[in-house]
Amino acid sequence: MNVLSYPHPALRVKARPVTTLDAAVIQAGREMLELMYKQEGLGLAAQQVGLDYQILVINFQGDPACPEQEVVAINPVILESKGSEKGREGCLSFPGLYQDIRRAKMVRVQYYDLTGKPFEMTCTGLPARIWQHEIDHLNGVLFIDKMGPLARMGSKKAIEDFVTSFRKKQEKGDIPPDVEMKL
Ligand code: NI
Repeated sequence: MNVLSYPHPALRVKARPVTTLDAAVIQAGREMLELMYKQEGLGLAAQQVGLDYQILVINFQGDPACPEQEVVAINPVILESKGSEKGREGCLSFPGLYQDIRRAKMVRVQYYDLTGKPFEMTCTGLPARIWQHEIDHLNGVLFIDKMGPLARMGSKKAIEDFVTSFRKKQEKGDIPPDVEMKL
């Protein structure tokens, strides 16, 4: 398992709901947590590791020493969101790119854990931002889609560089050349 970089087409796939919590799903959750910590991220969603079902992992502090901050969420949905605020955001699929993104200030989220137990969580600030970013991933939506005109302008070069580097990897054969490019 490794983190796919933009513009890998897997990032644009809409994930399907999980209907069976089998060993493969549980194992994916474990591996995603490990990978997120290795990459020093706060969250990681299915598409970023090439999976097509609704699973994401978060550690609100990004600290493996704080397992109480850890969430493995199956089929998460935002039930309610309120307010609006801008904040700095990055994404493991866009290494080195950070921009201010406008998000809801508060979200109420429902999800299932790996045992199928339902949970509800209400949060504000950074945790609310992480939930919105990761749930967007499950819908094939990326943080560059949420950028305002200034952030978009400031990211233009970086995004072009991601595309160039992806195409080079395809030419070298590191990524199959026949994938459909969705920019
Ligand atoms: Ni991301």
